[in-house]
Amino acid sequence: MDYTIALLSGDGIGPEIMDEAVKVLEAVAQQFGHHFTFHPGLIGGVAIRETGNPFPDETAQICREADAILFGAIGDPKYDRDPDAKIRPEQGLLAMRRELGLFANIRPLRVYKELSTLSPLKEDRVAGTDLVIVRELTGGLYFGEPRELRDNGRVAVDTCLYSISEIERIARVAFELARLRRKKVTLVDKANVLETSRLWRRTVKQMAPGYPDIEVDFLYVDNAAMQLILNPARFDVILTENLFGDILSDESSVISGSIGLLPSASIGEDAALFEPIHGSYPEGTGKSIANPLATILSAAMMLRMALHLGEEATSVEQAVNQAIQNEILTPDLPTRHPKTTGEVGNFVAQAISGY
Ligand code: IPM
Ligand code: MN
Repeated sequence: MDYTIALLSGDGIGPEIMDEAVKVLEAVAQQFGHHFTFHPGLIGGVAIRETGNPFPDETAQICREADAILFGAIGDPKYDRDPDAKIRPEQGLLAMRRELGLFANIRPLRVYKELSTLSPLKEDRVAGTDLVIVRELTGGLYFGEPRELRDNGRVAVDTCLYSISEIERIARVAFELARLRRKKVTLVDKANVLETSRLWRRTVKQMAPGYPDIEVDFLYVDNAAMQLILNPARFDVILTENLFGDILSDESSVISGSIGLLPSASIGEDAALFEPIHGSYPEGTGKSIANPLATILSAAMMLRMALHLGEEATSVEQAVNQAIQNEILTPDLPTRHPKTTGEVGNFVAQAISGY
């Protein structure tokens, strides 16, 4: 089959890790008889430099026309040093989420046995952890109106706003995902304090009888933050709103100790984007030390979820497992002979060719 893929490399190490994902996808095409057409688009700091806009219309168009979007990283230390900069790379990300309607952020966390010593937690606590965070991505405090300064800048307002229909559509994603897994959904909220959280709880409770095979439980977000450290293996699917999901995603990403291995998906009604969860790693840029595996695993997620190529996705994941088992790894992971970004990509691509 023929597929069109939008390639948004972004900033920092984005272009380097994207090259390896493309290499791997070319190997998949070869091995399984597909054809991928790649359409590059600008986003983030590089887009600001070239067009003045962190998410140019042309990029939005490329994304809309593609079967799926593969995304590298955005962020530039220049803007982090200047928190008042009017135009910022992150605005590109938020504009993209809004314009493409990417309402469901899906972040799986699995712990690789070979790498479990990397976790900052004790090995027996981490053992068996296999969870996924389903974060609402286009509502809540990130987008609610009004958001403004008042009283000559002495007061600031953000608004947390959710409708039942927004909650239902993200909850459906969580329930359906749980069905393919261990059949448990934990709603994380702050229903003891927040009106929006009470609406989430009521809505999810009302939906639960429609999914009789799924066990549902509820946790306050402060407690959930603790439970993630105390007993991460207790979770299957965590469902939560935008800001709580942002925070818990970062917390859970360090549990495995190997952030360079974690992929993610952001899904909408008619667009789907896949990206590594790590950032643009400016200090590592241009040194061939960036770990391409999270981007390669994001490409695998793309094959499975957006293009419905399950076997192809499995071939990529197995090739990544082989790289881990054979210590074909960049220097961020334990290996006696660290490899370059390109060498890791080559190994994975070759392993797919032998699938
Ligand atoms: C993420 C990031 C973004 C967010 C930032 C860069 C706007 O932290 O994807 O989690 O807060 O959503
Ligand atoms: Mn975040």
